Amino acid sequence: MSEAACVKAFSGRLIAWQEQWGRHDLPWQQTQDAYRVWLAEIMLQQTQVRTVISYYARFLERFPTIETLALAPLDSVLELWAGLGYYARARNLHRCAQMIVSDYGGRFPQDASRIAALPGIGRSTAAAISAFAFGARSAILDGNVKRVLARCFGIEGSPATAATQKVLWSLAEALLPATGIAAYSQGLMDLGATLCVRRAPLCTACPMHDLCIARRQGRQAELPTAKTTKTLPERETELLLLTDGKRVLLERRPPAGIWGGLLTLPEGGVAEARAYARRHGFRLLGMRPMPAVKRSFTHFRLQIQTLLCTVAVSPSVVAEAGWQWLACAEIETAALPTPIRRLLRDGVTIASGPGG
Ligand code: ADE
Repeated sequence: MSEAACVKAFSGRLIAWQEQWGRHDLPWQQTQDAYRVWLAEIMLQQTQVRTVISYYARFLERFPTIETLALAPLDSVLELWAGLGYYARARNLHRCAQMIVSDYGGRFPQDASRIAALPGIGRSTAAAISAFAFGARSAILDGNVKRVLARCFGIEGSPATAATQKVLWSLAEALLPATGIAAYSQGLMDLGATLCVRRAPLCTACPMHDLCIARRQGRQAELPTAKTTKTLPERETELLLLTDGKRVLLERRPPAGIWGGLLTLPEGGVAEARAYARRHGFRLLGMRPMPAVKRSFTHFRLQIQTLLCTVAVSPSVVAEAGWQWLACAEIETAALPTPIRRLLRDGVTIASGPGG
């Protein structure tokens, strides 16, 4: 089949496949409310469907409308986001809700290019929101869709490069159906998530089986072309876990940067622990290093070395602004990055154990 014939056949086959085999029961598919569609698309940007489902339900229970979200303090938004990672998403979500309430009277703009001008919403996410909430005919192109198109149409070059992205965007635009945009966009996502997966795609069940260039040439493992991997720079940090077994001393991070706005352990080693003891009015009883943990971020890898300090602190002590003595019972619900929550669980268990 010629490329033009493939382009022509693609959307019809995809829509028919989605109707029969695609996903129809995801919580955000049960609504066309732009607020709910937008929230789901932001959560799904860097997080898997199975993780998003419970966060999505809790978030909507707490913030059922865009107005409730816009009026909420950022801390309570971050609290519900804690554990999903990429916290800039939560800060942008909050800012975006405030802009929609103040600039658009609480109603989302319908047009993908106006949606894409809002904080935290790129071109593909804007297209998904406008397609699912308003039936607008615009092209999505997330990581899964890039894989589907690169394989089916034999697009060479890493999708991480601007040149390949340009080719993929113009292909994505050319493939759009005249009608049925929501089923089509969902079909692209579903095909990428269920059959045209990165490793060992299920080509025999694929509606594009006979068209797909990668399948016909046996090149599914080579397309899309892998980006040349750079090893990430390594950074190290020392953290202090200061606890009397009932509470831990935490510091709120500045709004920008990693873990921005979340509570975290203060940085430092032995000298800083002594300085904090003077500043915050507690006595140091003992110190021991915890096992190092590693964490990857987008631009670097971080090795975290934590010094566990048992302290004696007056029950009536009040933390300075930007600091908090968090009750150990609140470790599971506070706005904490996941590695910090894990360190706290482990540290408090050690500190309150025999000899702690
Ligand atoms: N990934 C991004 N958007 C999605 C959606 N609406 N459904 C399932 N997975 C997605």
